[in-house]
Amino acid sequence: MTLTDKPIPTPTRWHILGAGAMGCLWACAMHSRSVPEAHTGAPVTLLLRNRAALSSYPGHITCSDLPQSLNVPARTVCHDSGTTTDVINNLLVATKAQDTMAAIASVSSQLAPDSRLVLLQNGLKVQQELSRLYGTARVFCLSTSQGAWLREPFNVVHAGDGDTWLGQLAPASAETPAPLQRLLDMLPAQQLNIRIDNNIGDRLWRKLAINCAINALTVIHDCRNGELLHLPDARQTLTALCNEISQLLPEIAGAPAMPDLSAQVQHVLTVTADNVSSTLQDIRRGRATEIDHLNGYLCNLAAQQHLPCPVNQSVLQQMRVIESQALRA
Ligand SMILES: NC(=O)c1ccc[n+]([C@@H]2O[C@H](COP(=O)([O-])OP(=O)(O)OC[C@H]3O[C@@H](n4cnc5c(N)ncnc54)[C@H](OP(=O)(O)O)[C@@H]3O)[C@@H](O)[C@H]2O)c1
Repeated sequence: MTLTDKPIPTPTRWHILGAGAMGCLWACAMHSRSVPEAHTGAPVTLLLRNRAALSSYPGHITCSDLPQSLNVPARTVCHDSGTTTDVINNLLVATKAQDTMAAIASVSSQLAPDSRLVLLQNGLKVQQELSRLYGTARVFCLSTSQGAWLREPFNVVHAGDGDTWLGQLAPASAETPAPLQRLLDMLPAQQLNIRIDNNIGDRLWRKLAINCAINALTVIHDCRNGELLHLPDARQTLTALCNEISQLLPEIAGAPAMPDLSAQVQHVLTVTADNVSSTLQDIRRGRATEIDHLNGYLCNLAAQQHLPCPVNQSVLQQMRVIESQALRA
């Protein structure tokens, strides 16, 4: 074989399920991740919810921190449209946690038997359910502090640069499994600061515990993160929530102990003082929140162990009332 006969490497095709803020951000990052020999980024197909979403697609995604808009081909997952015959080998799931199982079910007939599922969701519930359903070897979890929001459909603002961690819910190991390294090589590691975490389960648990302490309280007090430290009522509930969660975690199989949760939460609230939590953003937009995958999930696990969690229950009930009002409005 001469040099000119050498095959040009074909970049891996990614299917992205859910074209919201994260789906569009990742589509842009994957597209701009160049494979030097091929002079192109990874081809990306967006799997949209229905025909209405497809017809609103302007033909490209715009990402605010890139000089040019990108042309990303979109297909629909709408079953009656007959446009979704692709076999999916690599699926990035970028739906909200509560939509994820139904969204994956809608494309399950297209999944190759060994397809990879890469999950971006908040919480831990869908990660655990999908790892059970498809096997831990095929399911990969991301935990990211990258921030993004949609200016309008398919126009994403990359609001905050952060870190992204990639791993599997297999038992923690000192050595990185080869499939994890292979997947990292296919992802926009440089663009989104992606690194491997051989104990992603612990990382997801810690983030879940912190979100359970913060997110619902910002809704109940309708405030930015930092204000939770200054409003006396909020601060009192925050302390009670942190204590209760710290006591629950050691009783839950697979969860790490977090005796220092209160200090960690204070740190997060201080460095994100001006942020509006994702749960409060959802309420303000009249959208369903991920609360069933945060405090709701924790309360269910506690109930399974017959452990009382009155502070989390009270916060959850208040959230449900506020959420149903927001959805009606
Ligand atoms: N945004 C961030 O900064 C950020 C940061 C860290 C983690 N995350 C996590 O990433 C996940 C996605 O967040 P996001 O902010 O990108 O949410 P988002 O903007 O609401 O996007 C979710 C998208 O999924 C679509 N969708 C829902 N069901 C679908 C289905 N069956 N088929 C196809 N598409 C479907 C939604 O369509 P509709 O609009 O029609 O409902 C929406 O476009 C969440 O779990 C979030 O917690 C987000």
